[in-house]
Amino acid sequence: MTIRLGDPAPDFEQDSTEGCIHFHQWVGHSWVVLFSHPRNFTPVCTTELGTAARLKREFDRRNVKVIGLSVDPLEAHERWIGDIAETQGAALNFPLLADADRKVSNLYGMIHPNASDTFTVRSVFVIDPNKKVRLILTYPASTGRNFEEILRVIASLQLTDQHSVATPADWWPGEDVIIVPSLSDEQARHKFPKGWRALKPYLRVTPQPQA
Ligand code: BEZ
Repeated sequence: MTIRLGDPAPDFEQDSTEGCIHFHQWVGHSWVVLFSHPRNFTPVCTTELGTAARLKREFDRRNVKVIGLSVDPLEAHERWIGDIAETQGAALNFPLLADADRKVSNLYGMIHPNASDTFTVRSVFVIDPNKKVRLILTYPASTGRNFEEILRVIASLQLTDQHSVATPADWWPGEDVIIVPSLSDEQARHKFPKGWRALKPYLRVTPQPQA
């Protein structure tokens, strides 16, 4: 089954470095970043886990829980965690699923057989507190992900969930946003008292409302 944006995030139970995870229960009322790694003891994956761990404060600030996945068994995860702490300047501070039976990888379509029959690609799923899938990214094994970009999209999703706005190309939090075209000028006058610049009738730029 292919997972698409807006779909319910499939539930599962799986072992992890923090014990058995009952996924929906573990999500609670948080946002979640679920991301997969091709395999343990590989250089790019090691840097990604370290980077995600160093960004914990940023994830916490946005009410985001992070959870990794690798298809190696738990004993291998325990040994790898030591390497991450030793080389990345941060110890793992989120669970890493031990998906040796590929239960979660198959459920989320993280194995792309034409890339590799056995190992997961670098998948990212952002899941909201209603347990809906809001972002899907897929990277090849040879390219490490940009976690600032993942945080940027979460900031956009959280902002656009609260206000009738969308965020333009290369937007960063604090920069101007776009009033959604479905809102008439009359409606926009009430919602955006600071006004807007209309570059075209459908392209109205306004300061970012408070998140
Ligand atoms: C890595 O994490 O370094 C990696 C994993 C699989 C293939 C290539 C690189």
